Amino acid sequence: MKALTYHGKRDVRVEEVPDPTIEVPTDAIIKVTSSAICGSDLHLYEVLGPYMDAGYVLGHEPMGIVEELGSEVTNLRVGDRVVIPFNISCGHCFMCDTGLMSQCETTQVREMDKGASLFGFTKMYGNVPGGQAEYLRVPQAQFGPIKVPEGHADDRYLFLSDVLPTAWQAVEYADISDGATVAVIGLGPIGDMACRVARERGAGRVIALDLVPERLERARLRGDEVYDVTGEDNVVEAIRSVTDGRGPDAVIDAVGMEAHGAPIGKLAHDITSLLPDVLGRKLMETAGIDRLSALHLAIDLVRRGGTISIVGVYGGMADPIPMDTLFDKQIQLRMGQANVKRWVDDIMPLLEDDSDPLGVDDFATHHVSLDEAPQAYEMFQKKQDGAIKVVLRP
Ligand SMILES: NC(=O)c1ccc[n+]([C@@H]2O[C@H](COP(=O)([O-])OP(=O)(O)OC[C@H]3O[C@@H](n4cnc5c(N)ncnc54)[C@H](O)[C@@H]3O)[C@@H](O)[C@H]2O)c1
Ligand SMILES: [Zn+2]
Ligand SMILES: [Zn+2]
Repeated sequence: MKALTYHGKRDVRVEEVPDPTIEVPTDAIIKVTSSAICGSDLHLYEVLGPYMDAGYVLGHEPMGIVEELGSEVTNLRVGDRVVIPFNISCGHCFMCDTGLMSQCETTQVREMDKGASLFGFTKMYGNVPGGQAEYLRVPQAQFGPIKVPEGHADDRYLFLSDVLPTAWQAVEYADISDGATVAVIGLGPIGDMACRVARERGAGRVIALDLVPERLERARLRGDEVYDVTGEDNVVEAIRSVTDGRGPDAVIDAVGMEAHGAPIGKLAHDITSLLPDVLGRKLMETAGIDRLSALHLAIDLVRRGGTISIVGVYGGMADPIPMDTLFDKQIQLRMGQANVKRWVDDIMPLLEDDSDPLGVDDFATHHVSLDEAPQAYEMFQKKQDGAIKVVLRP
């Protein structure tokens, strides 16, 4: 089959690899019909090379049609239309029973001291081949796959694999009461969807921060109050001045480690190379390096006694965080990998609603063939051509 494989920093290729087969009775094989590219894939593309061998198949946001089933998978039939959650979880361990599927004790990667295995997410998360491919082996298929109905194009359900439950958990962890003000830092697919979910779940005001014009514009058009972090002298002061001098009740950090710089040996300055030159320079000149830290911005921005929900992925082991401010401001902090299946029943009614309240049908900005995936990665990373969410169609 054809698959997108990793070969080095910013070097991914479409190659022929062996077809996956059923290895244990709880496996399924699906024929992939859609498979999205995630901001997390960009971390692999850019900084997580040391955790992958050349030829490793990427991708963790797939859906498709069941092609073959192991003997213990009795909840699915060949031909079913399924979305595959990015975490591989068993559904019957202590962690899965408490709704922490991303910590599943059956698939935990103990030798790396990590939580549940993930599709297409390096040796740190189990070295499981990913779903940016024509076919995918799905371990723990007696629990993982989400059966979805016919009648809509793939995009209606595809984002159940990651973006929707991740944004949902980000808002849940932000612990907003009705009418609360929530700020979302980073308007990639995750932050953008978190803004929509926050509104749907009762936020009174949504304040949206990024530095990419079309991402800010997308938020502005749906009524969010937008701030360009490079365009303000002091974005924290600007937002405090419109929130009774206090700051937002909750802040969601949907940026993660690559704004942050220091982790995994990466220089903060590198971020500028991820942006079109003009934006990179603007960021360097007007924001300064410390502003690149979305987490520090969140800590500064949130009101006293407020909550920070970190959904962006962090990987550094020795990053200083301002404990004095966290303690003095009495900040609540919650974070983690999304527990995909925990939230599916909450989200599904919004996808069954014909008015598409979360706007999933138009969420993706680009649909391309698997063959075009290498160019699509580059476009998404460099934020070219208005790319916000790219879906591959193998
Ligand atoms: N917790 C989970 O389960 C989970 C799941 C999926 C993705 N993620 C993580 O969420 C993060 C976002 O993913 P995405 O798909 O939206 O990716 P993305 O890379 O498209 O989004 C990041 C956004 O942050 C913006 N940004 C960068 N620095 C900023 C700064 N200093 N201030 C404000 N905005 C800034 C970028 O312009 C971009 O729009 C990534 O870290 C990804 O790994 C986590
Ligand atoms: Zn993802
Ligand atoms: Zn489990």
